[in-house]
Amino acid sequence: MALPNLESIKIVIVGLGYVGLPLATRLSDHFDIVGFDVDVLRISQLQSGYDRTGECTKAEMDTADLTLTSDPAQIKDADVYIVTVPTPVDADNKPDLGAVLSASEVVGSRLKKNAIVVFESTVYPGVTETICGPALEQASGLISGKDFYLGYSPERINPGDKVHTVDKITKVVAGQTPKVAMFLMGLYGKLTNGNVFLAKDIKTAEAAKVIENAQRDINIAFVNEVSMIFSQMGIQTQDVLEAAGTKWNFLNFTPGLVGGHCIGVDPYYLAHAARELGHHPEVILAGRKINDDMATFLARQIDQQLQKTQLGTKPARLLVLGLTFKENVPDLRNSKAADLIAALKGLGHRVDIHDSLADRGEAKAFYGFELLESLDQAKKYDGVVGVVPHTPYLAFDAAEIARILKVGGVLADLKGMWRGLELPDEFARWEL
Ligand SMILES: NC(=O)c1ccc[n+]([C@@H]2O[C@H](COP(=O)([O-])OP(=O)(O)OC[C@H]3O[C@@H](n4cnc5c(N)ncnc54)[C@H](O)[C@@H]3O)[C@@H](O)[C@H]2O)c1
Repeated sequence: MALPNLESIKIVIVGLGYVGLPLATRLSDHFDIVGFDVDVLRISQLQSGYDRTGECTKAEMDTADLTLTSDPAQIKDADVYIVTVPTPVDADNKPDLGAVLSASEVVGSRLKKNAIVVFESTVYPGVTETICGPALEQASGLISGKDFYLGYSPERINPGDKVHTVDKITKVVAGQTPKVAMFLMGLYGKLTNGNVFLAKDIKTAEAAKVIENAQRDINIAFVNEVSMIFSQMGIQTQDVLEAAGTKWNFLNFTPGLVGGHCIGVDPYYLAHAARELGHHPEVILAGRKINDDMATFLARQIDQQLQKTQLGTKPARLLVLGLTFKENVPDLRNSKAADLIAALKGLGHRVDIHDSLADRGEAKAFYGFELLESLDQAKKYDGVVGVVPHTPYLAFDAAEIARILKVGGVLADLKGMWRGLELPDEFARWEL
């Protein structure tokens, strides 16, 4: 087994999204990097220095020494491939491995002997070795573990988080053989000044990633469920969490919508793997169900609050602030804010939507929503619903609320973003 010399390797990153692009730019400080993506528009935007995900600045793009391409011919002769393509679920919440399989096919048909293929896409245990490995073998005619090697390194990047960046967090790695594992420790050691943790094997590393997100999902589901109970008792969950949070071992989770393509998706990967083995996962799926039901619950709560005010006639005119799946990212995929808006409309309300980061064209294409171009277009509403705590919304003062909310209207604050804001009593306030 002859592994390449770490000092002179060529690495191809396959899939330049939220995960792949920052990885490619950071690795380009140390290695010869080719970034490959099937999305021709994405490549041309990146070539001009524009990253629509907001993860890399123009300055970072301009200084990164990267070859960017959507031409598969340019990915041959690499020593290492790192696959960072999406792993969504289908309409039945089953794993959709289409992108990892097509990436394996593209890589496999250009794979040279002794190359290493590392998967970073989130999968369930076994996918790298029992699904991707054979797909690479089939496309390459080479044998996994003999002619080429597999690795897995789960990704923990947190979009919009400028603190826990890919170069500062502990990176878990695993290799098909001890030598490959050590090689990958060296490679990823260049990337992060956090730490590199060697997992026992590839399956273990895959499992670690998927439970990190499933655990988070379940913890959020717990606070979501208690918020459903407390709302019936006239207790504000945020107040309860503040009190309970003074205990040293109380876990700090807050209620809310769980969307996006990680926490709301990865538990289904684990659930699928469990079912394949004949185990019905109770806790994992219960958490998913509660979190998926949250949009409907919130819409009903907001509706009830509106009915309590003197403005409580239908349709109420509402302004929803935030459509992306989380704060300070432009990512609209699997946004539960969209479900909330649909549910509010379903209850008969008229809803205007603003998002300080989302692309208006994408909002239209994804959900059929016309976003307000700017908050200057906002009228006076019967209710203002703070859904996603983007920084500009956090900065609202009482005057801004008074500009957009009618006297007697409801300020529904789903994330506690205006908790500390003093407002005249003429507004009804509701927090989850
Ligand atoms: N975004 C996150 O916060 C995050 C965090 C940890 C792990 N992950 C995991 O990392 C993986 C990638 O996620 P992401 O958010 O970067 O996705 P993304 O959609 O932002 O980016 C994926 C990129 O891959 C490209 N692509 C799709 N199929 C391809 C193919 N066959 N060949 C080449 N390029 C292809 C797409 O055009 C896209 O640009 C997923 O498995 C995800 O679950 C994501």
